Amino acid sequence: MSVTLKYGSISSRESIELEEKYGAHNYHPLPVVLAKGEGVFLWDPEGNRYYDFLSAYSAVNQGHCHPKIIQALMDQAKELTLTSRAFFNNKLGEYEKYITEYFGYDMVLPMNSGAEAVETAMKLARKWAYNVKGVELNGAIIIFAENNFHGRTIAIISASSDPDCYEGFGPFAPGIVRVAYNDANALKAYLEKHGKNVAAFIVEPIQGEAGVFVPDDGYLKDCFDLCKEHNVLFVADEIQTGLARTGKLLACDYENVRPDMLILGKALAGGVLPVSAVLADKDIMMQIKPGQHGSTYGGFPLACAVAKASLEVIKEENLAERAYTLGKYFRNELRKLDHSMLKLVRGKGLLNAIVVEPKNGFEAWDVCLKLKEKGILCKPTHRHIIRLAPPLVITKEQLDECVKIIKDVFNEL
Ligand SMILES: Cc1ncc(COP(=O)(O)O)c(C=O)c1O
Repeated sequence: MSVTLKYGSISSRESIELEEKYGAHNYHPLPVVLAKGEGVFLWDPEGNRYYDFLSAYSAVNQGHCHPKIIQALMDQAKELTLTSRAFFNNKLGEYEKYITEYFGYDMVLPMNSGAEAVETAMKLARKWAYNVKGVELNGAIIIFAENNFHGRTIAIISASSDPDCYEGFGPFAPGIVRVAYNDANALKAYLEKHGKNVAAFIVEPIQGEAGVFVPDDGYLKDCFDLCKEHNVLFVADEIQTGLARTGKLLACDYENVRPDMLILGKALAGGVLPVSAVLADKDIMMQIKPGQHGSTYGGFPLACAVAKASLEVIKEENLAERAYTLGKYFRNELRKLDHSMLKLVRGKGLLNAIVVEPKNGFEAWDVCLKLKEKGILCKPTHRHIIRLAPPLVITKEQLDECVKIIKDVFNEL
């Protein structure tokens, strides 16, 4: 049976078959194929339109194919894309000045994926521990939180408490421990015993992959103060929470915490390229010397142009304020929905989740399938949580339409 295609040359069914046959099965996607994106919308090859309520795990805060970011990509692509760091280039320094002033740090170390930036922060923390704090060589400890998600490398999954992430991938990296999340006393107890060997505490201000778990007010500040007390670096992984998603530029801004190291990724390039960064002051950043760390693509001219435009869009379009106001409204509207499967609505800004109570064989996955049928795309995290995170350029009218769809879906379950 032939189908009429609006975008591209292969159908949804053919695309899925190709991925299943030729691609590693390391994901379990919702059965929808996407061929075009613009703003808050995505379309499949057959021309069906969907609201994007995942935003590529908060990488597309600025909206799909934002014209300013795409223009920056195209302008730069015609001039120079990659030279490696064997030479200087005329975009990197300008971008480094821009991003460090934007976030108020002395220096930046540019990388590509989020995981690479987390690894970079771990390496910087260890160097700092040996060179500055005076921890005995190879004895430095990095503390993470239970239920964290920081990426997929061996060192990072060594810190994971999720069997899907670590099982079958050992042996793991040493010098890594975990303490309970949202429990400053757990951090305190560990630091009181072992603080002199601890290099850093690396934490997500809101645990995104764990299901948009929002810690109590004051948790980040308490942890920051404990770190200061024990001469430990407080490192915030704002790869998912950063860049206006939670209603402030950074989620740490809610508690006026300025991390010693700030890790950014995802929306740093508006969903256009993999661009990540670690920001810190000189006393930390200068511990890494030429030849000790890097990446062929890290800080490439194309990335610099795209990241600068992506950061400009966040300010120009007041995305933090939008996320703050619309997020409050969205949660209020969802909380009006009275349904036995809907247990909880939580989040900050436009990083939200609903916790569902599986019933009559229906789980979060089934709710997502029904939402897809009605034109909203989101993905369950675990079996009972659905993250709701549209691009921050969504309008109130569009959000209202989506609230209605979500309510209809629940009422039909
Ligand atoms: C908080 C956090 N850190 C790190 C990562 C890893 O980023 P990447 O997938 O770009 O390696 C993610 C990805 O979801 C994340 O949410």
